Amino acid sequence: KKRFSVTTQRYRDELQIHPQQAWEQNQLQKATLRFGSKDRKPTDYQFVFEGQIDFLKAAVMDTDGVSVKVDKQQPTSESSVKKSKLNEDRKDLPIYPYKDALLQAVQDHQVLIIVGETGSGKTTQIPQYLHEAGYTKNGGKIGCTQPRRVAAMRVAARVSHEMRVKLGHQVGYSIRFEDCTSEKTVLKYMTDGMLLREFLREPDLASYSVIMVDEAHERTLSTDVLFGLVKDVARARPDLKLLISSATLDAEKFSDYFDCAPIFKIPGRRFPIDIHHTKAPIADYVDAAVVTALQIHATQPQGDGDILIFLTGQEEIETAESIIKHRIKGLGTKIAELITCPIYANLPAELQAKIFEPTPEGARKVVLATNIAETSLTIDGIKYVIDTGFCKIMCYNPRTGTESLLVAPISKASANQRAGRSGRTGPGKCFRLYTAHSYMNDLEDNTIPEIQRTNLANVVLLLKSLGIKDLLNFDFMDRPPTEALLKALELLFALGALDEDGKLTKVGEKMAEFPLDPMLSKMIVASDKYKCSAEIISIAAMLSVGNSVFYRPKDRQVQADNAWMNFHIGNVGDHIALLKVYNSWKEINFSTQWCYENYIQVRSMKIARDIRDQLEGLLERVGIELNSNVNDLEVVKKSIISGFFPHAARLQKSGSYRTVKHPQTGHIHPSSGLSQVLPRWVVYHELVLTTKEYMRQVTELKPEWLVEVAPHYYQLKDVEDSSSKKMPRGIGLASYK
Ligand code: CDP
Ligand code: MG
Repeated sequence: KKRFSVTTQRYRDELQIHPQQAWEQNQLQKATLRFGSKDRKPTDYQFVFEGQIDFLKAAVMDTDGVSVKVDKQQPTSESSVKKSKLNEDRKDLPIYPYKDALLQAVQDHQVLIIVGETGSGKTTQIPQYLHEAGYTKNGGKIGCTQPRRVAAMRVAARVSHEMRVKLGHQVGYSIRFEDCTSEKTVLKYMTDGMLLREFLREPDLASYSVIMVDEAHERTLSTDVLFGLVKDVARARPDLKLLISSATLDAEKFSDYFDCAPIFKIPGRRFPIDIHHTKAPIADYVDAAVVTALQIHATQPQGDGDILIFLTGQEEIETAESIIKHRIKGLGTKIAELITCPIYANLPAELQAKIFEPTPEGARKVVLATNIAETSLTIDGIKYVIDTGFCKIMCYNPRTGTESLLVAPISKASANQRAGRSGRTGPGKCFRLYTAHSYMNDLEDNTIPEIQRTNLANVVLLLKSLGIKDLLNFDFMDRPPTEALLKALELLFALGALDEDGKLTKVGEKMAEFPLDPMLSKMIVASDKYKCSAEIISIAAMLSVGNSVFYRPKDRQVQADNAWMNFHIGNVGDHIALLKVYNSWKEINFSTQWCYENYIQVRSMKIARDIRDQLEGLLERVGIELNSNVNDLEVVKKSIISGFFPHAARLQKSGSYRTVKHPQTGHIHPSSGLSQVLPRWVVYHELVLTTKEYMRQVTELKPEWLVEVAPHYYQLKDVEDSSSKKMPRGIGLASYK
């Protein structure tokens, strides 16, 4: 006779059948096996069902010759059942068998490089192990950095769930403009950029006992700079433990850099993966990805696994999502349900959680992700990966000082990581939307570290504020191009943040307090002089939420456009239009209805309000008075120019614009309120390269303001309008005949 020990009300009242039958009929989806794993059929394991403790009754029943004991002694409650389930899950992770060895290694060595395949449990488990082992006992925190905001938030949410604590209490996260931690926080997940900023307040990281620089293989700019800083701190603080964790196997480089630190390898479990390439190159990879996903869904057995598509960004993801939804309708009702789950950096938190929810019985999930799902986030249940072969990367041209977010081919290392996402829980399949030849010959082995292809102004300002004088000899793992470093120094000098000797000025000190791009910080610092800081921080906050303020539903484009034009009356320019949006919303008591009527995303507005509140706090910190000067738009524009004067551009005959120094051509983006106006002189916020080089967020200016605001940068001759200049008599074209 097999014995089941059942503790539940549900058994008595709802399940009129044998537990094993119930299990087989999926009526016990929420039941967990006390011993053994969820996938194993209940045999002689003890059952623990979810149920209320009040209802537990002792009884012994005989069903089909099997004795079922409902046991009241078993102290169980809903939460303890969930907890034990979570604990089982934690023990299933590849890292679990190495827990003790890992803790020993951390104890024996100050710096440790940890390598383990994505999903092995590095990010979620290691900080917990260390916490349990007492590394937070003496008040020290464990800090774990993530290159991506979404990853920091999700992982913290997951860990707080596993530890059964409220997010923001013992376990918290900190990302730019959002601090979800408290006095109690001992496990702190944060973006690498946030830890960088913490150096400003606490150069020796005294409040931490452990720093884990996670996802080190991503080699983001901030992570690379962190390497240099934490290496230094570790030398000065022998009590600090430093962990560098990475998903790729070439950890030797990290080890070499950190004075031959030992490498701890967590053997991964990877099932075989079938990789398919296309026979010929593909023109429209978004469409091809959708077609492939639908084919998989229609032809592969129902419920055998979910699909993960790698795309380059929000726009593509939204396009793909709407095509899938549209086409699935056309396939009729015979086809099983296909649930689309987008995930990208700007996706609101409440929607992010959706991708981690288990797929309902009989349905299939298709996750549409940027390369965030490559290594930072693990989604369970993926069996099929569709790899478009592209991602967005930031490219910087040190000659012109312009940055552009470009869609570029991924590296072989990325392609392999992407494929690997399909073979985590069983054999997987990866469909690459590029040819095998292209994989072999066109893809680079590794992505170039960000530090070698980005604008360094931000980082240079931060390092200068930390008192690092000689940047050219800073201990970088991979050196940035000297040209880019010099360019950054040059810009900071032009902005007045550095003096001629490269030392930080008072203005520079203030600028460094703002977690913003130096040009934006300068704009804010300058607003003090023009007595319009209230307006300028609203503009800075609105610019910081990105291009997601307005929306334009397909069926109401005309209405949406009309609504926006209201904010552009008088061709005030995009910066002022954003200010008007913010102020109008504030005047109407931050009304959601108002946003709705004006085709404005209330979510973005709320973020802008939060950012603005924080900027207001920082104003006080650096001693800038909050002044409003809403009726004088000229001073607002002058403040903007004080930060953005290098982005002043003059209209050409062709209808395009050209910057004055380091000539760079651009066009006003069609979404700008000035795209039809074409003023003679403009200042732009950013230049993006899509089909053309587009200037986004544009405001008209008077050229003499440039000379007034930045006399060290512009002279009258730079901004004089050659077209209006009279030609000296006799030197016309005719004289050359
Ligand atoms: O860092 P690493 O890639 O080694 O693994 P991890 O992020 O610690 O993830 C370990 C496991 O936790 C994954 O397999 C997921 O099943 C789970 N997890 C989750 O369910 N939800 C999250 N937000 C993060 C992780
Ligand atoms: Mg991880």
